Amino acid sequence: MSTIRLTVLASGNGSNFKAILDAIESDELDAEILLLVTNTANCGAAQKAIKAHIPVCTCSLKSSGGRTRQFEIMSKAITESKSDLLVLAGFNLILPTQIVTQFENKIINIHPSLLPSFSGGMSPQPQKAALEGGVKVSGCTVHLVTEELDAGPIIAQRAVAVHHCDTVDSLANRILKEEHIVLPQVIKWFSEGRVCISDGRVSIRNTE
Ligand code: GRF
Repeated sequence: MSTIRLTVLASGNGSNFKAILDAIESDELDAEILLLVTNTANCGAAQKAIKAHIPVCTCSLKSSGGRTRQFEIMSKAITESKSDLLVLAGFNLILPTQIVTQFENKIINIHPSLLPSFSGGMSPQPQKAALEGGVKVSGCTVHLVTEELDAGPIIAQRAVAVHHCDTVDSLANRILKEEHIVLPQVIKWFSEGRVCISDGRVSIRNTE
């Protein structure tokens, strides 16, 4: 099995990006991050990438000179990276159709709720919605990216209890810990060629 080549797209703090880096560093994950794409100059994810000597493509709306150009820059960088898998790790931009089509079944996203509940919105909106909904269990989902927001086939989920005394922050932090486990795990399944997609459903093939 060869090393899986990744492009990570992130806009925020980058704790999920770091979790992937850590999994690679500790040899839990046979992967290489070829590129970090961000639409937020100097965000935590970009800083972590620079520290780890990973190339960063920054294409903010402003620096790119508009949405069309932003998508062009992003598409070019992603295509040229020749990645096997695109990982959306807190990326707050909806990908253009062209990229979603080009990388069909090769783009994954992590969302801080148990989809299909509380889809849409960026952290902390889904966690806030879960609290307001009074649910007793929440969690995170890794899914394939399709044209429909947060609606692609689910690959894996991890649940957490929601406590009576939870704040949005305390719940978000509890979910984030699970995100840092499940995202590298799913990438590992891809690297091992174990992710099977059939009739819009994902199953994970057992190892021999
Ligand atoms: C995570 O909660 C992720 O599920 C959501 O955005 C947040 C990103 O956090 N899509 P971080 O930047 O990885 O720390």
